Amino acid sequence: METIISASLLSADFSRLGEDIKRAENSGADWLHYDVMDGIFVPSISFGEPVLKCVSASAELPIDVHLMITDPVRYIDRYAALGADGITFHCEACDNVNEVIDRIHKAGCHAGISVKPATPVSEIEQYIADVDLVLIMTVEPGFGGQEFMDCTLEKIAQARDIADRTGRDINIQVDGGINDKTAPLVRKYGANVLVSGSHLFCADDMAERIKVLRG
Ligand code: DX5
Ligand code: ZN
Repeated sequence: METIISASLLSADFSRLGEDIKRAENSGADWLHYDVMDGIFVPSISFGEPVLKCVSASAELPIDVHLMITDPVRYIDRYAALGADGITFHCEACDNVNEVIDRIHKAGCHAGISVKPATPVSEIEQYIADVDLVLIMTVEPGFGGQEFMDCTLEKIAQARDIADRTGRDINIQVDGGINDKTAPLVRKYGANVLVSGSHLFCADDMAERIKVLRG
């Protein structure tokens, strides 16, 4: 599968968000990653609906929403209406996983399911055939700029294996600590969607970094 680079807007300069979106688009990013944090499921609060409205208005690329919020089903329709193309939620944050997947699909979006570093892939195995993307968190969700956790590599391979056995093209996404050193590793273990925030937005030459991540 082709490698997809999703630039995480969490590391953009919010005082000139429109310019940073254009910078990511002109540098060859494939998707824009939009991290929603509620201060409950994760310790911090990032941004939500009003900012997504502005992002969708100025972005040309698909918007990959990552919900790090408790009880995500409450927000699916609203994020879909505001321009999300894909919505990924955490299995740890909801009681009824099937309900969330159905709701995302009914809203016309691609559905992604995510696991934190400590949650085994076996917890989501039964849902993988029904989603479009599996997100293996490669850091503890909540903050940009953290160091990649090597213990997540094996989980990427497990998710890839289960996804391939469904016979469907299911994206395996990684998020957290992705840079020029970790990208070849996660690709080798089977990830095809690489989220990267600080490594891309802190660069003078974002296009060069995207090229390297893609491999
Ligand atoms: C962390 C977020 C990530 C974050 C990654 O919880 O989900 O998307 O932006 O940041 P980096 O690439 O800096 O580790
Ligand atoms: Zn994210």
